[in-house]
Amino acid sequence: MTSSERLVIAVPKGALYPETAVRLREAGIAVPQDVGRRLTVETNEGAAELLFLRPTDVPAYVEFGAADCGVVGKDVLWETDRSVSELADLGFGACRLVVAARRVDGYHEGARYPTFLRVATKFQRSAQAYFAERDLPCEIIALHGSVELSPLVGLADVIVDLVATGNTLRAHDMVVVDEIARSTARLVVNPVRFRAKYAALRELVDRLERTAVS
Ligand code: PRP
Repeated sequence: MTSSERLVIAVPKGALYPETAVRLREAGIAVPQDVGRRLTVETNEGAAELLFLRPTDVPAYVEFGAADCGVVGKDVLWETDRSVSELADLGFGACRLVVAARRVDGYHEGARYPTFLRVATKFQRSAQAYFAERDLPCEIIALHGSVELSPLVGLADVIVDLVATGNTLRAHDMVVVDEIARSTARLVVNPVRFRAKYAALRELVDRLERTAVS
């Protein structure tokens, strides 16, 4: 980084972390190899501070200006009202939001859904919109993880969940019934901070976009 403006960057822990760290490093931000249990790291001789967050918390930190910008999956943005601006599609972390069900139920081969479908998901808003658009009455059952379990034990008829490699579905003899949307990691900014720290943020975006195509 050459700009004199100090940047606070929200970094997602979890699946997006390794590639986020690689890409920030390529863009000139010295992300440490091992952050251990640290919540923040001061880096680039004080020119940047990294906040290590749960992915779903990144938009809140950016909206309220506790971070100037952050990396977050598009799947998180679908589900939030947080007012942040998407500056770049970073291309990595690709996954699909899908409707999935037990293979044995045959929905992927045209078997009819029950008249009142029970849908288990962490993506309530996306799921609600998908079934409403198709005039399919449903009950959305909000879960926080291990969503694939729910059809196997009779809690739900289908799930709406992310699929990356497909290994989790295969391991439970489940199949994709329909694809709802595709997600990748995005760089989001606080719009006010974008104007206030334009030079530093513009430089970061340019560098991240250059590393995306090289
Ligand atoms: C996500 C998603 C699926 C899995 C899909 O879960 O909810 O369970 O990854 O990945 P795959 O297609 O590569 O198998 P996550 O790892 O976030 O954990 P969770 O079950 O706690 O939600």
